[in-house]
Amino acid sequence: METVAKIIKTFKTELKNIYPPEEIRSFTDILLKHFADINKTEAFLYPDKNLNDEIIYKLASAIEKLKQEYPVQYITGQTEFYGLKFKVSPDVLIPRPETEELVDLIIKNHQNHQKIKILDIGTGSACIPVSLKKHLPETEIFALDISEKALHIARENAKINQTQIYFFNDDILNPQENKYTDYDIIVSNPPYVREKEKTLMQKNVLENEPHLALFVKDDDALIFYRAIINFAKNRLKPKGFIYFEINEALAGELKDLLKLNNFTDIEIIKDLFGKNRIIKATKSMSYN
Ligand SMILES: C[S@@+](CC[C@H](N)C(=O)[O-])C[C@H]1O[C@@H](n2cnc3c(N)ncnc32)[C@H](O)[C@@H]1O
Repeated sequence: METVAKIIKTFKTELKNIYPPEEIRSFTDILLKHFADINKTEAFLYPDKNLNDEIIYKLASAIEKLKQEYPVQYITGQTEFYGLKFKVSPDVLIPRPETEELVDLIIKNHQNHQKIKILDIGTGSACIPVSLKKHLPETEIFALDISEKALHIARENAKINQTQIYFFNDDILNPQENKYTDYDIIVSNPPYVREKEKTLMQKNVLENEPHLALFVKDDDALIFYRAIINFAKNRLKPKGFIYFEINEALAGELKDLLKLNNFTDIEIIKDLFGKNRIIKATKSMSYN
């Protein structure tokens, strides 16, 4: 048996050389809630409360994983995205705040015309389609991923959040186009980190998140965008919209690619940190 105060102290001493104090506090809050069902206020009010050995064991092994910079979301198996709960595992990327901005933009732009079909390409945890469906309930939403393991998590997230999403297992680089319908919106946050950018990445991302979800070759960084634009030739309705999350370094190149493929009204939108993060474009009437 150990008290809440003692375990909070253990978090601080064990992790102080790796994380800043606010982050340690946040890990402590998340993990006390997850493993002991004790929230922040309860931990403050009842520091002498005893925790049983099983809980102490789980918290101690979580501390060991955090020391290896293992993401806290994979320890608890869940995260929050756009105010909703999502299950996560190392088979899916942990949804990022930048992607919430992409979702937010689509919701704001399309809430008055919801009788539409949306396809999310490279859906991972399904954070994009589930959040869209929750906020645009009259839309029909479809999503695909090459990873069957990711789709397993995606389906669970659709269920947990009580949303109906139609999932496909497919490779967007070689899609089986006849199984799709025509869409009003295609959205994607595809892999876009170049191999050469690995050195700029944090160890916890690099060592734990799925490389299939993150990386593209240095000499063909737009491979997924090109494939999706190609797919849109047949499967995006005229005047339909494409929304991409982008690598800020590739915004200009991608804009040119969209122009070359007759997309119009191309907008590059910055994220909260002022980085080019989203690109939106319209398919022209006279496509092909
Ligand atoms: C950057 S992650 C995005 C995940 C999720 N949409 C999000 O925003 O958190 C890219 C996703 O694309 C999927 N993916 C990678 N290669 C693919 C391919 N060839 N065809 C379809 N999906 C692919 C990965 O499995 C991964 O789930």
